[in-house]
Amino acid sequence: MALLVETTPSGREYKVKDMSQAHFGRLEIELAEVEMPGLMGCRAEFGPAKPLRGARITGSLHMTIHTAVLIETLSALGASVRWCSCNIFSTQDHAAAAVARDSAAVFAWKGETLHEYWWCTERALDWGPGGGPDLIVDDGGDITLLIHEGVKAEEEYERSGTLPDPASTENTEFRIVLGLIRGSIVGDPRKYRKIKERLVGVSEETTTGVKRLCQMQANGTLLFPAINVNDSVTKSKFDNLYGCRHSLPDGLMRATDVMIAGKIAVVCGYGNVGKGCAAALKSAGARVIVTEIDPICALQALMEGIPVLTLEDIVPEADIFVTTTANKDIIMVHHMKKMKNNAIVCNIGHFDNEIDMHGLETYPGINRITIKPQTDRWVFPETQTGIIVLAEGRMVNLGCATGHPNFVMSCSFTNQVIAQLELWNERATGKYEKKVYVLPKHLDEKVAALHLGKLGAKLTKLTLEQAAYISVAVEGPYKPTHYRY
Ligand SMILES: NC(=O)c1ccc[n+]([C@@H]2O[C@H](COP(=O)([O-])OP(=O)(O)OC[C@H]3O[C@@H](n4cnc5c(N)ncnc54)[C@H](O)[C@@H]3O)[C@@H](O)[C@H]2O)c1
Repeated sequence: MALLVETTPSGREYKVKDMSQAHFGRLEIELAEVEMPGLMGCRAEFGPAKPLRGARITGSLHMTIHTAVLIETLSALGASVRWCSCNIFSTQDHAAAAVARDSAAVFAWKGETLHEYWWCTERALDWGPGGGPDLIVDDGGDITLLIHEGVKAEEEYERSGTLPDPASTENTEFRIVLGLIRGSIVGDPRKYRKIKERLVGVSEETTTGVKRLCQMQANGTLLFPAINVNDSVTKSKFDNLYGCRHSLPDGLMRATDVMIAGKIAVVCGYGNVGKGCAAALKSAGARVIVTEIDPICALQALMEGIPVLTLEDIVPEADIFVTTTANKDIIMVHHMKKMKNNAIVCNIGHFDNEIDMHGLETYPGINRITIKPQTDRWVFPETQTGIIVLAEGRMVNLGCATGHPNFVMSCSFTNQVIAQLELWNERATGKYEKKVYVLPKHLDEKVAALHLGKLGAKLTKLTLEQAAYISVAVEGPYKPTHYRY
């Protein structure tokens, strides 16, 4: 793909794979709107007042159909939006085309190289000479990382005249990031500091991005306020759990069409995502085994009738392996070598380091056979047996399918909209410092409430006496903040 920014007849910038898919994208966006009552409720409630008027929002989050509904909700509330994907395989090209044609600047296509991915990220941040965005929607923290690394490198350059050195790291992706920042310092040695000065804050979508933010807060290096959307109950206990319960089997089936029933499936990690994955595999008839480091999560798995073992115990017997740990080095090449012929190996955690892709790619004599994009068979020379790796070790549900269904993403993204509104409305009040915050419980309950009608639910109303008896207000919040659901 030639990396040249294009413009719509109205002058909006974009780079997508195929603008002729915009009509198809629009039809699917219209279907999604009916399934996303939280976002449409935000449009109805806040749209007329345009509370985000004047706000520039940069987003780095899978450019899918449901994200299109998020982007167009932010636009309906008055914001100007520039967007890229947070994963090289997760864009739905028809969604990207429809949004680029109709509503926001999009830089994303399915199957980006890492170099293209970071070019798109840089374009989404590029609001021209007046600095960067006011607000960021991040998923996994790549935009946040780029700004922090950019500021750090500019300060070092000012101090010592030293430019970042891509050769200083073995990590291929970080090498690209350092190269990008090096180029930008040569062009404008204050670019990232100008971006930082304008920024009001970020709302972060996922567990892994929140971990990065909390590390920065602990080190004292966080440069702007952050709202942790992931830990809204209506996000992590819904998207991570029920979303993965739906989209893991979707990814497995689209990629391999393998019969899940009867197979032995190993789920590494039994947190929110692992619970959803294990439930899906179990209900499809697989014999599920979990690996865990945390005794509480291990005991939870056992209470569901799921054995807990180590990977070493089960590697030669299992048929399907799924990593969900948000940790690194979970399935190594020495594990993969011992697996059955055509065992399926995939990851649904955020990054591509749960599975040892580097070890696999550099294994002497290994033969990679691409069956179709994002489905590869890797054949070991000694045994001539192969394993099937999905989405090159990146998130299988977004690489091999289309991510979670729209309804559950409506819960996640309604939290995103509320977080963006909160950061923007409080931009001059000092309410948010350079720390990581979660949304208050009454807003979490509001997100859930917005989704009940669509499913035909009727809530029971507390009487005044009942409310007093359990020490809550009639209108909520109904639980203390420490309640775990
Ligand atoms: N693909 C998606 O659609 C999607 C959706 C939501 C979250 N995520 C990502 O999925 C990952 C998991 O999120 P989560 O909310 O379930 O996190 P979590 O913290 O609830 O769960 C992770 C679990 O892995 C366990 N673990 C850590 N190291 C381990 C190891 N070496 N072996 C076995 N278990 C180990 C932890 O004890 C924990 O229980 C994150 O990277 C998150 O960003 C992906």
